[in-house]
Amino acid sequence: EKGGWSSFMAKEISEQPDAVTNTLRGRIHDGQAVVPELEAFGDDVLAGIRRIVIVACGTAAYAGQTAKYAIEKWAQVPVDVELSHEFRYRDPVLTSDTLVISISQSGETMDTLMAVKYAREAGAKAISICNTQGATIPRESDAVIYTHAGPEVAVASTKGFTGQIAALYLFALHLARVRNTMSLEELAAQVVELQAIPEKIATTLLQEDAVRQLAVWMTDSRAVLFLGRHVGFPIALEGALKLKELAYIHAEGFAAGELKHGPIALIEPGQPVFVVVPSPRGSAHLHPKVVSNIQEIRARGARIIAIAEQGDAAVLPFADTVFHIPLAGPLFEPLLAVVPLQMFAIELATAKGLDVDQPRNLAKSVTVE
Ligand code: M6R
Repeated sequence: EKGGWSSFMAKEISEQPDAVTNTLRGRIHDGQAVVPELEAFGDDVLAGIRRIVIVACGTAAYAGQTAKYAIEKWAQVPVDVELSHEFRYRDPVLTSDTLVISISQSGETMDTLMAVKYAREAGAKAISICNTQGATIPRESDAVIYTHAGPEVAVASTKGFTGQIAALYLFALHLARVRNTMSLEELAAQVVELQAIPEKIATTLLQEDAVRQLAVWMTDSRAVLFLGRHVGFPIALEGALKLKELAYIHAEGFAAGELKHGPIALIEPGQPVFVVVPSPRGSAHLHPKVVSNIQEIRARGARIIAIAEQGDAAVLPFADTVFHIPLAGPLFEPLLAVVPLQMFAIELATAKGLDVDQPRNLAKSVTVE
C-alpha cells in the first residue's frame, strides 16, 4: 500500500533510513559486525578466500561497485565486479578459493541466477545478497545475507540499493575481523559510522523542496551528465541510470578523472552536470582534483549541480546548485550522496507527468535474458 504517498517510489525513497536500520538489526554485537549467516562457511573458509567476484545487474551492480572499495580496503581481498550477463558468457577463471557474491533485490534476475549456477559448478562458493525471502537466487547459493529493506514495488530500485550497500558493508567488516586485517577498535569505528547512516539519510531527505525546484526548472533538459570519483563514481552511474529509466532523458555517468580522455568534449554552454564531490576532510587528496574538474567544465559553460558535504566552502563559488550531505566517513558518503540523485529523478519524471512506478519498457524483475 502506498499510504499517503504519491507513488511507491516516493514512499520507498523515504523508507531508506528504516531499510538500513533493519538491515543492520541483529548483525551488530558488542560494537562489531557479526553476520550470523556467514557462519555456514566457518571462519577458516572466509580467511582462505583469495578473490571475490561480485555478479549483478543494473542498480545492484552499482551497489557492488560501491562496496568493492570497502571490501578491498577493510578485508584486503581483491574484488572484481561483473555484470552477470557478461560474466556467464565468457570463460571466467574460478577456483575454490574464489567467493562469488551475487546481488539481487528480487532474487529472480535470470542472468544473475545463471551466473551463480555457473560459479558453483566451477567450484566457487556463492553468497547471495537478496531482499526477497525464499527467492530463487538465495536458494541456489551456499549462504544468503538478506537485506531487510521491505518489499520494493517501484520498478526503480532505491531502498533496495541502500540496503544492499549496508549488507555488503556488514559483510566486509565481518570478513575483515575474521581475516585480522583491522584492529577491533578500527572495526568498531566503522560500525559506528554505519549505525549513524539512517539518521543522516533522514537529514538528506529534507532537501526535497530544493530538489523539486531544480527538477521543474530542468524539465526540458535533453542530456544530463554525472561525474564522480572513487566511491562517487558508481553513484554517478546510479544517478544517470535513475534519470534514464524514470525521466527518459539521456544521462551518462563518468569517472571524473576520465574527463580529459573524452567526455569533456560534450561540455557546451548550459550543459547540466551533477558532480558528486568527495569530502574535503575524509578525501583531502581527491577533493581538490574534483573541484578543479568542476572549474574546468564550468569555464566551458557547464551548469554545475554539486552533491557536497555540509560546510564544503570550496565548491560554493563554482556550483550553480548545491545539495548537501551530512559529514560521514569517505566510504559512507555513497549512502547519502545517492539520495538527492534519486529524488531528482523522481521529481523530474513527475514534473514531466510520467508514471514513476512503472516506467515504459521496464519490468521489476528481469526473469528472461
Ligand atoms: O532484482 P535485481 O536487483 O536483480 O534487479 C537488477 C536490475 O534489473 C535492477 O536493479 C534495475 O536496474 C532497476 N530497474 C534499477 O532501478
